Amino acid sequence: MTEIDTLIHGDSIEILKTFPGNFVHAIISDIPYGIGCGDWDILHSNTNSAYGGSSPAQVSGGGLFKRRGKPLNGWSQSDKNIPREYQSWCESWAGSWLRVLKPGGTCFIFAGRRYAHRCITALEDCGFTFRDMLSWEKNNAPHRAQRLSEIYRRRGDSQNAAKWEGWRVANLRPLFEPILWFQKPYRTGGTIADNVIDYGLGAWNESAMSKYNAHDDICSNIIRVAASQNDSGLHIAQKPLKLMELLISLVTLEGQIVLDPFMGSGTTCAAAKNLRRHYIGIDIEAQNIITAKERLSANFQYEIAK
Ligand SMILES: C[S@@+](CC[C@H](N)C(=O)[O-])C[C@H]1O[C@@H](n2cnc3c(N)ncnc32)[C@H](O)[C@@H]1O
Repeated sequence: MTEIDTLIHGDSIEILKTFPGNFVHAIISDIPYGIGCGDWDILHSNTNSAYGGSSPAQVSGGGLFKRRGKPLNGWSQSDKNIPREYQSWCESWAGSWLRVLKPGGTCFIFAGRRYAHRCITALEDCGFTFRDMLSWEKNNAPHRAQRLSEIYRRRGDSQNAAKWEGWRVANLRPLFEPILWFQKPYRTGGTIADNVIDYGLGAWNESAMSKYNAHDDICSNIIRVAASQNDSGLHIAQKPLKLMELLISLVTLEGQIVLDPFMGSGTTCAAAKNLRRHYIGIDIEAQNIITAKERLSANFQYEIAK
């Protein structure tokens, strides 16, 4: 018997193999992006010494990119393998996710911009339908694009410093994050409208968008939900509670079950609880279970929807 309204400490890739099929109504997860945000986010075997380095960004970045290292330029084969290794990691759990979801159920995944395509390929190859890519617009984001002229100035190269004034290296300010929208194919021999009647899954609820989306076009696939003061301090990759509430209420009904296999501080579970959905959260780090339990400490009970 698989428990609901529960937080599980352990490796979700192994734990989900023991879950029954066609069990949860939605999987909503901010998965590791594979960019070295912490030890749990290193999903490759590259031992390039740029990782774990001591550049100013790594030292002053509050630990965020401690293990990310310098940008890799694809010099070595092990650099080039990183994206493929990320895809293999996604493939190691995608099949279980498809199995435990009910037909027509949604899977929303926060994936990093650099490797999101690998995640899409992994889930598509295992049988998910890739429906859309939402853009979550943030109100701010750290930006570390070095000025090229400064680099030359420090080298004493005034000629190139003048020539490259106004040019920068690295990325534009990363003000959006993709949210990948997948669906488990609805039952064979029926239409999506039949699936909605049979499983309560397959459609989306526009009132969720009108309640939470600050974009002028509330039904656009650009989502504007600003983080509040309470949306930080529990996890290095903490997501806004209201954003998770939007995603949950977009595709589920009260009483349905939402699973987050990479739950961190439990934001998805807290949002599910606020909206009277059942939740199951899994995380590999014990401290995250303690944090999430505190957020979810009040008891609640109601019927499971079909
Ligand atoms: C991006 S964070 C999620 C943060 C979350 N959105 C929040 O608001 O707190 C991903 C989480 O996945 C966890 N994790 C990584 N690998 C895991 C695994 N194999 N099984 C379970 N959890 C894992 C990490 O410990 C980390 O807390």
